[in-house]
Amino acid sequence: MKKRIISPSLLSANFTKLDRDIKIVEDAGVDRLHLDVMDGHFVPNLTFGPFIINDIRKISSSHLETHLMIENPRKYFDDYINAGTDTLIFHAEASYDIRSDLQYIKNKNILAGLAINPNYDYKKLSKYYHLLDYILIMSVFPGFGGQSFIEKTLDTMSYLTNATNNYNIIIGVDGGVNLETIERVYETGIDVTIVGSGLYGASNIKKRYNLLQGNE
Ligand code: DX5
Ligand code: ZN
Repeated sequence: MKKRIISPSLLSANFTKLDRDIKIVEDAGVDRLHLDVMDGHFVPNLTFGPFIINDIRKISSSHLETHLMIENPRKYFDDYINAGTDTLIFHAEASYDIRSDLQYIKNKNILAGLAINPNYDYKKLSKYYHLLDYILIMSVFPGFGGQSFIEKTLDTMSYLTNATNNYNIIIGVDGGVNLETIERVYETGIDVTIVGSGLYGASNIKKRYNLLQGNE
C-alpha cells in the first residue's frame, strides 16, 4: 500500500517537549510538519509565531507547512518565510488580494498555499489554479484542535481533486481527521492529511501513525 502523506499538527503536541514530540513522529516516518499560527483575531485562539518556527527549523529537516490563521497575512509573510517555512499557507478569507499574495510567496521560491474554510465557495478557486502549489481544505472551522469533522467538506475534496487534475497542486485536508474519518478523506483523492489530536492524543503515537497509514 502506498504511504499516505500525513502532516502532524504540532498544535496537539506538548509544547514543553516539542523536540521530543517532533522526533517521535519523524522516527515513525513523518517528513512533513504542520504549524498552526493563530492571532486571536482571525480565529479566537492564539498560538505561536515565527520565533518558534525558527527554532523548529533548527531541529528538523521535515518539510514545514505554516498555516497562517491571521488577519492581514501579507504583512507577516516575510517573517514566516525567513523563519524557514517551506510551504506558506494563508486564508482566502483573510487576504486582500489572493493573486498577488500567492505571487509574492512564489517569488520567494517557496510553495504557496491557500486555505479555505468549510463554507467557502470552492468553485471560485479556479482562477488561481495556475498560481497554487497547495490548497488546504478546512474540514472544521479553524481555531482549535480536536473538533468534529464536517462531513459536507468531502464534496469539496472530491470536487477539487478532480478539477485540479491537470495542475501540479497538492490538496491537503485539515481538521477532525482521525482513525474514524481518514479512510473517507483519502478516498476522495486528496494528497495530504493534517492530523493533530488524532495522532498526538494517542498513548502510543508510533502505533497510531501506523494505524492512520492503514497498516496493522
Ligand atoms: C484547526 C487547525 C488544525 C488542527 C487540527 O484550527 O488548523 O491544524 O490543529 O487538529 P485536529 O486534528 O485535532 O482536528
Ligand atoms: Zn492547520
